[in-house]
Amino acid sequence: MKRIAVITSGGDAPGMNAALRAVVRAAIGRGAEVVGFGHGYEGIINNEAVEMNSQAVGGIIDRGGTILRTARSATFRTIEGRQKALDMLTANGAEGLVVIGGDGSLTGALKLHEEFQFPVMGVPGSIDNDIAGTDFSIGFDTAVNTAVQAIDRVRDTAYSHERVFVIEVMGRRNGFIALEAGLSGGAEAVLIPEVPYSLLDICRYLRSAASKGKRSSILVVAEGAAKASDVSDFIGKNTGFETRHVVLGHMQRGGSPTAFDRVLALRLGAMATNRLLSGFRGEMVGVDGRNLVSHPLSYVLSTDRQIDPERLLLTEVMAQ
Ligand code: F6P
Repeated sequence: MKRIAVITSGGDAPGMNAALRAVVRAAIGRGAEVVGFGHGYEGIINNEAVEMNSQAVGGIIDRGGTILRTARSATFRTIEGRQKALDMLTANGAEGLVVIGGDGSLTGALKLHEEFQFPVMGVPGSIDNDIAGTDFSIGFDTAVNTAVQAIDRVRDTAYSHERVFVIEVMGRRNGFIALEAGLSGGAEAVLIPEVPYSLLDICRYLRSAASKGKRSSILVVAEGAAKASDVSDFIGKNTGFETRHVVLGHMQRGGSPTAFDRVLALRLGAMATNRLLSGFRGEMVGVDGRNLVSHPLSYVLSTDRQIDPERLLLTEVMAQ
């Protein structure tokens, strides 16, 4: 394989640029060329091809977002769209494709692999960390640190005004960001979609904590579990405590990647490229502890990533 393509796709995540840099430079190191496409699959279909040499990925290791830009492509979800994408990849001389993105983007990669036997490699890039087959996806660590910085700031004002604050974090249908940010931000409770919760129980807990002298609290809510405004209103009405809510939203997607995300992105980007150039295909690279691993995309996309019960328990124990 002498020429590969690369895209960033779906929701952007801090560290995607570092992954791009790794893909391009690992390929060049093996004597291969790289063509990038802007706007993910949509850009392949529209032939937004750009030659990626070493300079093209210079000075981007610290930049959030993705220099290639990204999109969620409705056209690529159709067989006609995928056929068009295949034609464009071939027209640009690409013999393989590295996809940096979340589970929707990796599903697209699997389809190219299964329907057309086109060689693909996936690199998990998503703040949600909801992808099986890897302990971490690129961007999660940065997003969690951004959320924790916000929680720390909110805690100052919660303390001063003796209020209950409900902070909503991203995560789509999962609670990985909420759990990690809640634990490290010292939240009194974390609501996630994976585990049933009772707002009445939380009100009881807040009353009991107040009777022991706790005058302010932070609750972290995953967007997939509830709306922060609803939780805040419910608690206010049921306890009489003064409540406020904050939705962190897209600020969690931006910013310079942490050192952890940069190193993760560099390792995963380089490994995906090396495996693709060595003849492996239809896989997603990941980390298991300190080790790099690679799994079939079919396994990754048919497996649910589980919440760590020990972390959940720790949240409750720490809230006593
Ligand atoms: O998948 C990343 C993510 O940020 C989710 O946490 C969130 O639900 C979604 O993307 C938001 O998507 P959009 O940027 O299209 O509104």
